Amino acid sequence: MARYSRTEGTIALITLSNPPVNALGAAVRRTITDIMHRALTDGEVKAVVLCGENGTFCAGADIREFGKPPSGPALVPLIHDMEASEKPVVAAIEGVALGGGLEIALGCHYRIAHAKARLGFPEVMLGLIPGAGGSQRLPRLIGIPAALELITTGRLVSAQEALKLGIVDQVVDGNTIETAVKFALNVIGRPLLSRRLSERTPAFSVDAAAVLEEGMARVKQRARGAFAPVVCVQALRAAATLPYSRGMETEEQLINTLIDSSQARALQYCFFAQRNARKWSLPSGARWNNSKPRAVHRVGVVGLGTMGRGITVSLVKAGISVVAVEMEEKQMDLGMRAVLGMLERDAQRRGDTRPPTHLLTFTLSLQQLGNVDLVIEAVFEDMALKKCLFTELCNVCKPSTLLCTNTSGLDVDALAVVTHRRSLVVGMHFFAPANVMKLLEVVCGPHSSAEAVATAMTLGKRLGKVGVVVGNCPGFVGNRMMKLYLDQAYFLLEEGAAPEQVDQVLEEFGFTMGIFKVSDLSGLDVGWRVRKASGLIGPDVNPKTPSRWRQGCRYSPLPDLLCEQGHLGQKSGRGWYLYETPGGKEPKPDPAMHRFLQEYRSRYGLTPRHVHAHEVIERCTYAMANEGFRILEEGIAARAEDIDVIYVFGYGWPRHRGGPMFHAAQVGLATVLQRLEHYHQLHPDVPHLQPSPLLQRLVEAGSPPVHHWREHVQHLHSYL
Ligand code: 3HC
Ligand code: NAI
Repeated sequence: MARYSRTEGTIALITLSNPPVNALGAAVRRTITDIMHRALTDGEVKAVVLCGENGTFCAGADIREFGKPPSGPALVPLIHDMEASEKPVVAAIEGVALGGGLEIALGCHYRIAHAKARLGFPEVMLGLIPGAGGSQRLPRLIGIPAALELITTGRLVSAQEALKLGIVDQVVDGNTIETAVKFALNVIGRPLLSRRLSERTPAFSVDAAAVLEEGMARVKQRARGAFAPVVCVQALRAAATLPYSRGMETEEQLINTLIDSSQARALQYCFFAQRNARKWSLPSGARWNNSKPRAVHRVGVVGLGTMGRGITVSLVKAGISVVAVEMEEKQMDLGMRAVLGMLERDAQRRGDTRPPTHLLTFTLSLQQLGNVDLVIEAVFEDMALKKCLFTELCNVCKPSTLLCTNTSGLDVDALAVVTHRRSLVVGMHFFAPANVMKLLEVVCGPHSSAEAVATAMTLGKRLGKVGVVVGNCPGFVGNRMMKLYLDQAYFLLEEGAAPEQVDQVLEEFGFTMGIFKVSDLSGLDVGWRVRKASGLIGPDVNPKTPSRWRQGCRYSPLPDLLCEQGHLGQKSGRGWYLYETPGGKEPKPDPAMHRFLQEYRSRYGLTPRHVHAHEVIERCTYAMANEGFRILEEGIAARAEDIDVIYVFGYGWPRHRGGPMFHAAQVGLATVLQRLEHYHQLHPDVPHLQPSPLLQRLVEAGSPPVHHWREHVQHLHSYL
């Protein structure tokens, strides 16, 4: 847990040792408390160096202990005793010093960091504030404005930035521990008063008051209903206005308001869900830790439209060579300029002189893909076109090339079977804009090999994506659930709501953007094309079929009617909202839309009613979760956690609410079931509101916690 040794005669070296990240679990806290006491009371020891094993100082509190009854000694008295000591204590920081790890380092009198180290207070991402003095010591060290930014965002800083800010005293390229020991020998006997951060008064000027006020306003606006960032500002206000001891009391009171909150639970759930998503397995027994990915040096991207451009930028930024293929010159020119522009802006932001354009080849010829290791196809969402392309790719590419499709919902198996290398075909479903959005659904069909899945997941990780392995079905996980969410939103408009009202409720719930704003941003024609291809609109529909009825259930033609009028969203200047010009970004409620909805309702004899905010949330989020249970039952997602990761990283679901499945668990499965039954009774023509069998069984089983749900899946179809 921690080791004690003596070096250079008078220096005590304390090494934290709790792999993989030296988290401060109860046993670690107990051990360091004991050995720090020993070092501080041993007359032969003149100075102490604190470091971590395996190149990591400390990643903070053990997150697995949150929510359990407290045990072991607290950090605050340990840090206090260390700081109060008359012997200099030097932190030798390698790897990371995060959360409680940085709080320990701030209790040391000096801090030496390796050039590659990162430091920060990510507690806010876990629904907390730094709770062992960090919110009181950091502002005393670097001032209110800088501390406010770091603590409210959870941003980590490099060693170089930490040096500039004054968080560390020295940055070293070589051996950090040896340097810290030499440093400690040098400072023995020097006065320590000015090195004790708790003894300092943060300069509290009128400016600081204004900074805190502005900070609070900014944080409230960005927090989308999350409490922790707001509480962080309150803790900083205490640091700025109260003596240290009273500030510490306030910090304790504030963290106690958060520690058992539902938001903290949700955020901590997200932390582990994101990490567990990497641990995929297939029915064959192949797993993330026994399957070898192929090396990928050169990638072909086919189609340089919205998605192909973002994918190309992501690949090049990760240092991977790309051969980008278009079918026509004009698109190639547009695509090429867009890619180069994005890379140029990115290089400028990072202060690089030249973007890595040498990694790029643009071509109109598929033949140039002969030597690539992997292809990502991003042409129009048209099965016939994609099949043709995959057949051609088989002839052009070397036999070992992986063929991946970025389809947003077409059958990946149907593409695999037209190739002679079914095992090398997987979906790599990126999200727009692909160079920004973190999510990557890796779609695995029955033919996909473990090697192909491992390669796609590893490539995703190199691109900085959060990969989730999912099974093959229309829309996979994310878009399959999204369809039902959209349907509910359209139905709410039919029943009396306005787009901006629905969006406001969803944004107050915490979504990054309301569903209608998202739809305008993506373009209404995207779904229109899919509905045409799936026979919901167009010549295949029997002319006698009522407009609001398709394939045996309720259907809303509202988005089709907008598309027919050329109202495609931002790109056309009009969609669910009005924009100043085509391509405009600022949505304004559109009086013409309100008239259009009134006319629509009277045409179909629909009496508008007031739609309450809670109905918007319940119908949208419970419909999604209900489909999530079906997805679990069918084995399209391996875990409820995976579904939640998909929604948090790909669909702007508020992280502090965990994801649609976790949210359903927090609301209570029995409540969700009862509300779905209620809505299904009111709307029997919407089969997706009928509670799924898995949800019913879970409620009968007493609503077990999320990670036990899989045990209640009856006939595991086992895609995954
Ligand atoms: N507690 C428990 N487990 C932790 C942990 C922590 N603080 N930090 C990481 N882990 C676990 C991960 O779950 C993962 O476990 P797994 O292998 O079983 O999936 C393993 O350590 C490795 O983590 P990563 O996969 O994330 O490894 P990376 O190298 O990509 O990242 C990291 C390392 C930067 C340290 C990253 O894990 C991280 O950001 N950890 C969280 C740090 C944090 O939030 N600290 C604050 C805690 S709250 C606190 O300290 C309160 C204080 O104010 C009192
Ligand atoms: P897009 O219409 O913007 O671009 C498609 C591009 O492919 C065009 O530039 C076209 O010229 C090119 N193309 C068509 N046939 C080609 C061929 N045979 N060879 C070379 N190039 C060819 O389409 P977008 O939006 O980029 O979508 C591409 C794919 O990504 C689709 O399958 C779509 O469903 C999927 N997708 C789209 C998302 C979005 O938000 N737009 C999100 C996730 C997936």
